[in-house]
Amino acid sequence: MVQDDQPIIKVSRLRNKFGLQVVHDQLDFSVKRGEVMGIVGGSGTGKSVLLRTIIGLNRPSSGLIEVFGQDTSKLRGNEARALQARWGVLFQDGALFSSLTVAQNIEAPIKEHTKLSKELRQELIDVKVSMVGLPPDAANKFPSELSGGMRKRAGLARALALDAEIVFLDEPTAGLDPIGAAKFDELIQELQATLGLTVVMVTHDLDSLHAICDRVSVLLNKKVKVGTIPELIREPDPWIDEYFKGPRGRAAETAKSRSANRVNGLSLSRSVAIEASSLGSTKEKI
Ligand SMILES: Nc1ncnc2c1ncn2[C@@H]1O[C@H](COP(=O)(O)OP(=O)(O)OP(=O)(O)O)[C@@H](O)[C@H]1O
Ligand SMILES: [Mg+2]
Repeated sequence: MVQDDQPIIKVSRLRNKFGLQVVHDQLDFSVKRGEVMGIVGGSGTGKSVLLRTIIGLNRPSSGLIEVFGQDTSKLRGNEARALQARWGVLFQDGALFSSLTVAQNIEAPIKEHTKLSKELRQELIDVKVSMVGLPPDAANKFPSELSGGMRKRAGLARALALDAEIVFLDEPTAGLDPIGAAKFDELIQELQATLGLTVVMVTHDLDSLHAICDRVSVLLNKKVKVGTIPELIREPDPWIDEYFKGPRGRAAETAKSRSANRVNGLSLSRSVAIEASSLGSTKEKI
């Protein structure tokens, strides 16, 4: 999946502080072009803040943030807008404007960043709707009229409205049932391969990590530890140990390594989760 070794995102010595709370301290993080980078860490460790800082929505206390070689914390006006047109974001919550239809949601960034005619905008909307696997009639629905999985797809269509080179996803499969989550992973993987996207994805979903991430960044002690999953597993850290080697981590790993365990295209752990949910329990967040 990785296309070249040039970092497309480079974060150096990042420090983020809210009042007395230091969230990131001398954090270094980089993502290569064409890579699918997963970000994991306990709740409140600063995963969303890291994404928001990279895309310039959060001003860091100090540090250097470069995307496409440009410092996102220093850009203003047109320069910032030009850079923003090169990435798409699927936020953790409220990814869509609830008062706009799916089509209008996808159209919003197109209108903001281009001078395309109404007809061309419509064509682009149709392409994006089908690209993320939504039926054409979903375009005229409001977010409240869609299922959770369809809303995620619509959010992705909006994030990709402008032929983004990087897509930032914050918990894209959270709240989806195991089949919906597996399908969403497949979609991301397919889009990554066909469009050559760079994907930065915050997730708690171990199956997603195993299925589609080239490397994973673990937020720990206000910094990140980066590596492939096998590399991370060798790290002597109790959180990493529990996360990757606990029962869920082992199930996800087994499913990845033994294709025989795939049931109707689903990994073993997701199949188990479906079975569990059919028995009345739900697949809870780790
Ligand atoms: N604008 C803000 N003002 C003050 N504190 C903030 C702000 N944004 C985030 N924080 C704090 O920074 C910490 C990290 O928040 P963040 O949202 O990045 O966590 P997270 O790792 O994404 O967690 P989760 O897995 O629950 O989504 C939290 O303690 C949060 O309360
Ligand atoms: Mg978050």
